[in-house]
Order: sequence, then C-alpha cells, then structure tokens
Amino acid sequence: MVMEIKKHKIFRVFHTEKGKMSLLLTENIIPNQRSFDEELISHDGREFRVWDPRRSKLASSILKGSPNIGFREGDIVLYLGSSHGYTTSFVSDIVGNEGFIFAIDIAPRAMRDLIFLCYERKNIAPILADANKTDILRERVSAVDVVYQDVAQKHQVGIFLKNTELFLKEGGYALLALKARSIDVTKQPKQVFMEVRQRLEKELTIIDYRELEPFQKDHCMFICKKK
Ligand SMILES: C[S@@+](CC[C@H](N)C(=O)[O-])C[C@H]1O[C@@H](n2cnc3c(N)ncnc32)[C@H](O)[C@@H]1O
Repeated sequence: MVMEIKKHKIFRVFHTEKGKMSLLLTENIIPNQRSFDEELISHDGREFRVWDPRRSKLASSILKGSPNIGFREGDIVLYLGSSHGYTTSFVSDIVGNEGFIFAIDIAPRAMRDLIFLCYERKNIAPILADANKTDILRERVSAVDVVYQDVAQKHQVGIFLKNTELFLKEGGYALLALKARSIDVTKQPKQVFMEVRQRLEKELTIIDYRELEPFQKDHCMFICKKK
C-alpha cells in the first residue's frame, strides 16, 4: 500500500494516515536502521520513523496541538532525562546531522543503552550526570538553542529553571514535560500544573501549555521562551 506522507506544521515532522490512525513521523537520519522497535516507512527514496505518543511526551504534545515545539535543523540541545533515548532519537532526526544533543541521565542502566544509540546517531553525546548539579554539567555543556527536560522528580521545576538560566541562549526555547505526581501525589494534577505555571511565568515567557491525556496520564508540557 502506498502511503501519502505529508509535512506536519511542526518543522521537520511529518504525518500519514494508516487505517483510522494518524501517525507522526520523522525522517530517519540513519536510513535502514531502527533505533528502537519503531516501524520504518519508505517513501520516494526517503525513510521515515513512526513516533509513538504513548512513549514520548514530545510526540504527545504535538498530537495534542502544540503549534511550535521550538526545535530547528542545526540546533544545539540540552536534553535532561534522556533515559534510553527514545524521544532523544526523534529529536536527533529533527535537528539533523548539523545539530547536536547533550543527552543527560542520572541512571547508569539507561546510560548503557543510550551509549549504543550514540554509536549510531553521531549527533548525540551521552552524559551520565545529575541534572541538578549544574556546576558539573558546566564543564561539559555549551550554550544551547533548546533545553528539553523530562526528569519526573520532585525538584523538576527548580532543575529546569537552573539549567535554563545557565545554558539557554537568549531567545531560545525551553520545554518542560511535567509529571504532577512526582511533585506532590496528594494534590490534583491540575492544581500542580497551575502552581508550576505561576512559578515559570516569573522567569520565562510561556508560549504553549498542553495537558497530555490520553497519551500520558497526569502530565503536561510547558513550552517557554527565554525573556
Ligand atoms: C520519564 S524518564 C525520561 C524518558 C525520556 N525523556 C523519553 O521520552 O524517552 C525520566 C528519566 O529522568 C532521569 N532522571 C531523574 N532524575 C534525574 C536527574 N536529577 N538528573 C538526570 N536525570 C534524571 C531518570 O533516570 C529517567 O531516565
């Protein structure tokens, strides 16, 4: 079956229809290789990877209607909480071979898988570190165009603001995938989202906010710009 691949309104993201499903795609920068168990779709001599919104808060934010996620071809990115690299691998397609990602995670087990991903994808550098320890990150990370954070832990907002302040270029984008239950299990997620919004607004300009249900329970995405 020949599928029609269309450009998405999000830069360097594509989409197609499969039956009743709408699939989000990126163009594979390492053709003929799967980075995870994703489906590959070939079309007109190009190859696309299917991006699962249930595994990626960034994909779910796009499917929930975010008009702009901030990433551009050639961008330098600080990705805090890369884990095994699922979402990082799609960001790697979006920024392309001219772009670069500093991929940080605190867990040695996740880092082991991430290192294998970095052998294939030359635009990602794996860094085993605590995102909260910016004095150590400072020795390894340069100024960046985008900060993306998904660390799912109690002090996630403080960590985000600290890294944004230190590494994000003027006018750069900062994306926070927020897990309400990691901040306070006793509060309603919407209450946590509102409190975080008020805190972020003091330091950044929020350009988009999405709750990520049904793809991600009790999560939201803030997309901000440095003032
Ligand atoms: C929800 S997972 C990230 C999933 C990943 N962003 C994706 O979409 O493929 C959260 C990750 O944050 C990492 N993490 C938690 N606290 C951290 C910290 N202080 N510094 C760096 N990584 C941290 C965890 O080890 C875990 O791998």
